Amino acid sequence: MPSLNDIRSTFLNYFAKQGHEVVDSSPLVPRNDPTLMFTNSGMVQFKNCFTGLEKRDYVRATTAQKCVRAGGKHNDLDNVGYTARHHTFFEMLGNFSFGDYFKEEAIPFAWELITREFGIPQDKLYTTVYHNDDKAFEIWKKVGVPESRIIRIATSDNFWQMGPTGPCGPCTEIFFDHGDHIWGGPPGSAEEDGDRFIEIWNVVFMQNEQFEDGSMKALDMQSIDTGMGLERIGALLQGSHDNYDTDLFRSLIEASADVTNVDPYGEQNVHHRVIADHLRSTSFLMADGVTPSNDGRGYVLRRIMRRAMRHAHLLGAKDPVMHRLVPALVQQMGAAYPELGRAQSMIEETLKLEETRFKQTLDRGLKLLDDELSDLEEGAPLPGAAAFKLYDTFGFPLDLTQDALREKGRDVDIEGFDSAMAEQKAKARAAWAGSGEAVDSTIWFDIADSKGTTDFLGYETERAEGQILALVKDGAIVNEAGEGDSVQVVLNQTPFYAESGGQVGDQGQIRLDGGSLRVTDTKKVAGVFIHIAEVTNGLVTTGAAAQLEVDHARRSAIRANHSATHLLHEALRETLGDHVAQRGSLNADDRLRFDFSHTKALSQEELLKVAGDVNAFVRQNTVVETRIMTPDDARALGAQALFGEKYGDEVRVVSMGTAQTGKGLAGDTYSIELCGGTHVKQTGDIGTFVILGDSASSAGVRRIEALTGAAAFAHLEREAARMAEVATSLKAQPAEVMDRLKALMDERKALQNEISNLKQQIAMGGGADGGVEAKNIGGKTFVGQALQGVSGKDLRGLVDAHKQKIGSGVILLIAEDDGKVAVAAGVTDDLKAEISAVDVLKAAVPAVGGKGGGGRPDMAQGGGKDFSGAQEGIAAAEAFLAGQ
Ligand code: ALA
Repeated sequence: MPSLNDIRSTFLNYFAKQGHEVVDSSPLVPRNDPTLMFTNSGMVQFKNCFTGLEKRDYVRATTAQKCVRAGGKHNDLDNVGYTARHHTFFEMLGNFSFGDYFKEEAIPFAWELITREFGIPQDKLYTTVYHNDDKAFEIWKKVGVPESRIIRIATSDNFWQMGPTGPCGPCTEIFFDHGDHIWGGPPGSAEEDGDRFIEIWNVVFMQNEQFEDGSMKALDMQSIDTGMGLERIGALLQGSHDNYDTDLFRSLIEASADVTNVDPYGEQNVHHRVIADHLRSTSFLMADGVTPSNDGRGYVLRRIMRRAMRHAHLLGAKDPVMHRLVPALVQQMGAAYPELGRAQSMIEETLKLEETRFKQTLDRGLKLLDDELSDLEEGAPLPGAAAFKLYDTFGFPLDLTQDALREKGRDVDIEGFDSAMAEQKAKARAAWAGSGEAVDSTIWFDIADSKGTTDFLGYETERAEGQILALVKDGAIVNEAGEGDSVQVVLNQTPFYAESGGQVGDQGQIRLDGGSLRVTDTKKVAGVFIHIAEVTNGLVTTGAAAQLEVDHARRSAIRANHSATHLLHEALRETLGDHVAQRGSLNADDRLRFDFSHTKALSQEELLKVAGDVNAFVRQNTVVETRIMTPDDARALGAQALFGEKYGDEVRVVSMGTAQTGKGLAGDTYSIELCGGTHVKQTGDIGTFVILGDSASSAGVRRIEALTGAAAFAHLEREAARMAEVATSLKAQPAEVMDRLKALMDERKALQNEISNLKQQIAMGGGADGGVEAKNIGGKTFVGQALQGVSGKDLRGLVDAHKQKIGSGVILLIAEDDGKVAVAAGVTDDLKAEISAVDVLKAAVPAVGGKGGGGRPDMAQGGGKDFSGAQEGIAAAEAFLAGQ
């Protein structure tokens, strides 16, 4: 008997043999369709290939596509567990032609696969065609289906649409007759809703496109889109009527029986079925980046989880069980969907966390529900206020309450629930309005209230489609904006990261039919992502679908800087000590800045060690992991909390690097931080890390600025170029520059000494100008000299040299160097009682524009401005001596 895994392979291999490209399933969060909550069929990822908007390098494709139907047009949640064929998660097998083959080939392909490859007896099969599709009718006849088994259907059952808009077309369906032991009639008959005739394959002839205004247009090309539920065909090929009676589901149901200790196939089977189904949808949604939250996709996920958890509770489970089922799922489906294995620990932790928390209120909530019901008349609906209390206080999603009531044959007063919800929102708003926050941001709260918050897709992708929900211009909501307008754009989902936690907002492009915008920044208020943009051409209107594209190069650089900041933080703690705590940060595209508590400047060795450590972890190239947990669990793990951030019930934990040495044991995770930012996939993506400098930011806070990746490399290149320039002018190799510089400095010092010796010799008369004559003035020897190119600091030595030479006498030297005039006077010891050098100096300085000076009787120094008065100064000193 073929397993579900075998059947999937047979299908894909069959179409691969027919020239089809085997394409991976797209994620459950549709990036190319803002109108869809979750991917709900195989054609979603190819939507734009049918309309011709997108070209791929193949025209035939086949996939096994992950699908979730738990919200929106196709919502199967309420029926799951109670029927044989409803799922929140299922796999759709499909083959596709984009303007290549059409009906003539699609029908024989389908027939051959199910009758030959799968070996389904022809006499068990029926087909339907759209009532006016004679062509399809003929082709079925040709492949051998008797006319009596080709049924024309005039209803929308045979006209397939993915949603209110998009490609669509008539279809043909293949039905299997499970036999007369089951009640039901063939399609189109009065008994068609019975379970005997089951649709197994839908082949859509894509030839139209449906628009929002209700009009429908023929597409330029004719294409094929088919969908076969793997679980259904699996049941059939395994001889069953029930999708849950297949190898894959049996193993999940048995795993559920194991952890709850309840017979898998007894009376309680329905609970195991719900658990098995919900385990698949929740795990796959989380593997595709959805995390439980209180709105949007995250809330649908939480609702499904809690529904499963209540059924586990009904099975008597005391402790959380859902996370213990994940290994069984990974074992069954991890090979076909490797993302499941990669996310396994994150899925387990998240399920455990959700179930632990939900369990705390589940018992009390269920008790409240029982109390309420006991006060009500038989069969009366549960009042809306009670359902709202369960929702608000006990975290019971409405459909969980409905599910619980269903077993008791009761309903909820939905209107009452809605009005209680509206009342609470109004109160919250009034409280917020009174809190003194900036008034102009009320507009974002209005938008959050009326349109919901924005789904952020940017951890997973940099491109997505979104629908424009609101345009704000000059502080007011507008319906459209034209070229040159500055606007703020809100969409239902976006890959653009909004500024927070030190990481700057994304920039990029928004394109739509007939217009485009340049996004210069992204911010968020109240969960609403605000794209600050300029309309670069055309017209932009509310309601339009738009292609969003984040500037990839810029975002990559931001990611590298953000991840490097985490490594830097840990390297600083390792190097400087545990007192290092983050005080602020900036993660921009061109640099990073990290402020941290530390009182002293970092030494050269410390800076080198920090930069060396960061680069070592960059080279280690470990995968950067992201997980969701409670703040307490995160702290228990040793996560570094960021300064000034407020944390909710759940935090995102980013970890990277494997420690080799250090405080923890070798092998411990190096950096663990609470962080909502975007990060590199592997640390090697940081490229390289360079510290530009360390400075004081404020009292007790240091600031490090650094570069990564291309910017770091460019910086190093510039430094190297400068070094090369220096080397060239030093006539040395770059590596020799330091030695060469040192040699030059030594040489310079030696030359300076030599010059000053020579100058002294010249000044003393030993030089080429023949020296200077000593005079006799009033019976005393006097040496007066004006010197050019001699600096003041050399004068004292010269005065001493003259003293030695003349033995007894008076010396006056006036020197000029670099525009500065210095004057020195000396008197030999034998005369200093009689004549003071200070007086000699004072006599001379006015002539050179100086104002006195000072010293002792044997040596005095002063300065001046005007060397042209030097001879006059000497004459003045002579006159002074003569007068003594
Ligand atoms: N897109 C078609 C379906 O989902 C094949 O049934």
